[in-house]
Amino acid sequence: MRTDYCGNIDESYVGKEVSLYGWVNRRRDLGGVIFLDLRDREGVVQVVYDPDLPEVFEKANTLRQEFCVSIKGLVRARPEGQVNKGMKTGGIEILGKELEILSRAEPLPLDFNQENSEEQRLRFRYLDLRRPEMADRIKFRSKVTSAVRRFLDDNGFMDIETPILTKATPEGARDYLVPSRTHKGQFFALPQSPQLFKQLLMMAGMDRYYQIVKCFRDEDLRADRQPEFTQIDLETTFLDAEGVMAITEKMIRNLFMEMLNVDLGEFPRMPYSEAMRRFGSDKPDLRNPMELVDVADILKEVDFKVFSGPANDAEGRVAVICVPGGAELSRKQLDDYAKFVGIYGAKGLAWLKVNQIDNGIDGLQSPILKFLGEEVAKALLDRVNAKEGDLLLFGADTWQIVTEAMGALRLKVGEDLGLLQGDWKPLWVTDFPMFEMIDGNLYALHHPFTSPRGLSPEELAANPKEALSDAYDMVLNGVELGGGSVRIHRQDMQATVFSLLGIDEEEAKSKFGFLLDALKYGAPPHAGLAFGLDRLVMLMTGAESIRDVMAFPKTTTAACPLTSAPGFANPEQLQELAIQTVVPVKESSSEEA
Ligand code: AMO
Ligand code: AMP
Repeated sequence: MRTDYCGNIDESYVGKEVSLYGWVNRRRDLGGVIFLDLRDREGVVQVVYDPDLPEVFEKANTLRQEFCVSIKGLVRARPEGQVNKGMKTGGIEILGKELEILSRAEPLPLDFNQENSEEQRLRFRYLDLRRPEMADRIKFRSKVTSAVRRFLDDNGFMDIETPILTKATPEGARDYLVPSRTHKGQFFALPQSPQLFKQLLMMAGMDRYYQIVKCFRDEDLRADRQPEFTQIDLETTFLDAEGVMAITEKMIRNLFMEMLNVDLGEFPRMPYSEAMRRFGSDKPDLRNPMELVDVADILKEVDFKVFSGPANDAEGRVAVICVPGGAELSRKQLDDYAKFVGIYGAKGLAWLKVNQIDNGIDGLQSPILKFLGEEVAKALLDRVNAKEGDLLLFGADTWQIVTEAMGALRLKVGEDLGLLQGDWKPLWVTDFPMFEMIDGNLYALHHPFTSPRGLSPEELAANPKEALSDAYDMVLNGVELGGGSVRIHRQDMQATVFSLLGIDEEEAKSKFGFLLDALKYGAPPHAGLAFGLDRLVMLMTGAESIRDVMAFPKTTTAACPLTSAPGFANPEQLQELAIQTVVPVKESSSEEA
């Protein structure tokens, strides 16, 4: 029987015999004494073997990194001068009396003392997870889910499972399909979220639902996106947007207090239009002090088409960001930023340096100064409240290009120059448009089950582009942590929204007939939200990517180097499923499957 975890052995065990299990973190031979650092999930403890017990000493001599062993020994206080205050177990050591090697380890494919490639880490994930940094994150994640469950249980939410083999649930990504053997030629889709089922549960009278649940989305992957990820998904009946925001804000505030001893305070609210205008993003990072400042009115008359064109165009935008201390940037850095905004379609990046604020136009430096003149330049400086040493960066183009390009530039410059202030900046973004227009077609900004704000179906149909939805996103430090909305609970409204989205009656019936049916039988008003658990834990642990807080994530090409998934199916399986692949099936496929 194990006495305790290695990492828990402290002064309270001094004088006691303990029995421990763990892995060899390190073995050192120091002048006839062997020091073994024994590690388990909770930490590392030092075991000392001396030659007085020759048999055990000899065995200890054969230990190598990552051998799995059990030991028995006597806990004693470390001699003065050898105490390690940085370690929980640093005040004690164990005089080893017995040692059993439970399992040997070959030399590791990962070097724990240096950075390993992510491919290699994922291939040998079970070793990578032995690293305390990784183990700590997985432990932290488990504590987060327990705390979330406790909160939701205490608030009357019921944990209800929903199907994984189901029909498509549109959340804007491609579906993962699963062929049916019993219905040849037909497919299940893995859920992009439990959205429709949780709405049906409200219609079933469950009142409050939650689930910590896998969602599947075949989309382009990034640092904060995975093809299968976990949502803290919830739904409530008879609560409005305010009600859902209040309870979920409380949950996140409690969680930060409990886990990190951080008081996030009351979350500010910001309408979507303001977020886009001031920050060029629907998930603004409020730690970044810079803003996009509109200056079109100042530049309407200047003799510089690049500015005066968009300044006089109703669809155009001219915006400035003022970079504190940015006058020190080199020509090369400015050129690099101009290239960067090019990614977003910007055709250039005009700049103006405030070298000496009290020296009029002579104190300024800019390739476009001659077009601006002193008066305009001064008006610009006043508008952005520029100080000596600042740099003004200009975007002039269509509203969309300027907003996107300058929004992205703001983040990049803020990061590059270390301008972020404060640790945690949460907010709610609200008042989203119902739809966005792409190439003449309307698309749902959230999902097609989101309710418009205060409109009848007729009013919505008459002017869909102006309609706002009853949706809300929780944003933390520039990351969309979660999003939700009040749902449509009337059939005529749902039918109107489908039709505006170009889903005709027949398609609506075949795809969402069950929902439209359910709306006929006393469907209650309902609203909910889903958090991205992986993103939440990533932020709370300071991890760079959500992959670092998932036990077995996929690569950026949506593959698993550990299991080599996805793999080819064997021909018999395909035959049974009535599936023919267009790409030739690999010779070796029957062994691989
Ligand atoms: P949404 O699509 O906004 O809403 O997803 C909710 C939250 O899930 C997280 N998320 C992701 N995390 C990792 N990888 C991904 N590929 C990924 N996609 C989304 C984000 C996001 O805020 N059914 C609605 C919720 C609702 O209306 O109740 C939904 O799924 O943190
Ligand atoms: P040009 O006259 O094209 O050489 O441009 C003069 C300056 O304006 C350069 O610094 C360009 O990077 C910048 N510039 C050009 N087009 C734009 C634009 N659409 N928005 C902002 N700056 C621009």
